[in-house]
Amino acid sequence: MKILTIIGARPQFIKAATVSRTIKNYRDITEIIVHTGQHFDTNMSDVFFEEMNIPKPDYNLGIGGGTHGLQTGQMLIKLEEVILEQAPDWVLVYGDTNSTLAGALAASKLHIPIAHIEAGLRSFNKKMPEEINRILTDQVSEILFTPTEIADKNLLSEGVNKHKIKYSGDVMYDAALFYGKMADDKSTILEDIGEREKEYILCTVHRAENTDSSERLKSIFKNLEKIASDYRLVIPLHPRTEKALKELNFDFAKTDIHFIDPVGYIDMVKLEKQAGLIITDSGGVQKEAYFHKVPCLTLRNETEWLELVDKGYNALIKNIDKLASLVQSQWRRPMEHTENLYGDGEAALKIVETLIRFHSENSVSASD
Ligand code: UD1
Ligand code: UDP
Repeated sequence: MKILTIIGARPQFIKAATVSRTIKNYRDITEIIVHTGQHFDTNMSDVFFEEMNIPKPDYNLGIGGGTHGLQTGQMLIKLEEVILEQAPDWVLVYGDTNSTLAGALAASKLHIPIAHIEAGLRSFNKKMPEEINRILTDQVSEILFTPTEIADKNLLSEGVNKHKIKYSGDVMYDAALFYGKMADDKSTILEDIGEREKEYILCTVHRAENTDSSERLKSIFKNLEKIASDYRLVIPLHPRTEKALKELNFDFAKTDIHFIDPVGYIDMVKLEKQAGLIITDSGGVQKEAYFHKVPCLTLRNETEWLELVDKGYNALIKNIDKLASLVQSQWRRPMEHTENLYGDGEAALKIVETLIRFHSENSVSASD
C-alpha cells in the first residue's frame, strides 16, 4: 500500500511525526512525504523534521507566502503532478491549512481516496480561512479521522455518511505523550532564555483574525504590554505576527515582553509545561495546555476545541480589555484532571490500521 502524505505548516509536521513513525513499523506500506513549502524558515520547518525524526520529504514544492488563491492554486498545480507521478492508494492530509485544501482538491479530482486527519472540527465562523479549508476537505474525503466526539457530531449533522467517520482520538495527544518526556530530559530552553519554572506566562499569537486587522493587533499587544509589566511574558514570535508588528512600528527595543524566535517542539513542550499560565490563539497550544495541566486563556471568540471551554480548562477572551484581570485569577491555577478528552494516545495506530483495513476490503471487492 502506498500512502502519499501532504504537509506544509508547523502543526502538520508535529501531527505527521506520530503517524509516520507508526507507518515505519509496517513493511508493506510505503509513505511518500510531500512538503508544500508553506512554512519554510528553519525554525518553522526543518527543526521539526530533525528533532522529531520525521523522514525527509520526498518532494518539497517550495510554495510559501502569497495570497490564499495564489498559494493554494500553485500548490494544486504541483500536487497534481506529484500525485499523477506517484499513483498512491491514499492521500493523507492533516488539519485545516491551505496545504490541506490543495492536497484534498488535487487528490479528489484524480479519484484518489483521501484520508483526513483531524476531521470534523468547526468554529462555525466562515471568515476564518481554516473553516473553509476544513469544510471542503471533509466533503471530499473518503475517511474522516476525528479527534473528538464533538467532531463526530459536527460531521453527522452535515450529513456525512457515518461509515466514513472514524473516531481515532487526537494525534497531538500521541505526540504530547511521546515527546513530553523527551522535553523533561533534554530541553535546556529555560536556561537558554533566562526564565524560571512557573515564573512566566507563555503566549503565542498568529491567527489571521488577530494579526490582519491593525486595530485588533494593537489592542492585543497593548493588553499584553500591560500584563508584561507585572509578570514575565514570553512570546515565541510567529513570522506572520512579526511582520504585522513591524508594519505597526512596534518598538521591540522598549517592550517588557520577552520575545524569542519560534522554537522546536521539544523546547515548546518544556515552555508549556513550566508556564504558570498560557495565553494563545493556537489550536494546538490550547490542547497542549490541557495535556500538560496548565491553565489557558484563548484570544479568540470561538474555538474548535469546545470541550476544553465547557469543562473549564480554557476560557475564551471575547473582550480583550478583560485579559489582565483574567490573568490574575488564572495564574498558576491548579489543573489536576484524569479524564482523556482526546483519546488514549494511540490515535496514529488506529489511523494506520484503519487505512490498511479499508484498502484490503476495497482491493477484495475490486477483484470480485
Ligand atoms: C498557517 C495556517 C494556519 C495555521 C498556521 C500554523 C492557512 C490558511 N493558515 O497560517 O491555519 O494555524 O499556519 O502556524 O493555511 N512565513 C514566514 N516563514 C515561515 C512561514 C511563514 O516568513 O516559515 C510568513 C509567510 O511568508 C506569510 C506569513 O508568514 O507572509 C503567513 O504564513 P502562511 O503560511 O500563509 O499562514 P500562517 O499565518 O502561518
Ligand atoms: N509550536 C512550536 N514552536 C513554537 C510555537 C508552537 O513547536 O514556537 C508548536 C505547538 O507546541 C503546537 C503547534 O506548534 O504543537 C501549534 O502550531 P501553531 O500554533 O503554529 O498552529 P495551530 O495549531 O494554531 O494551527
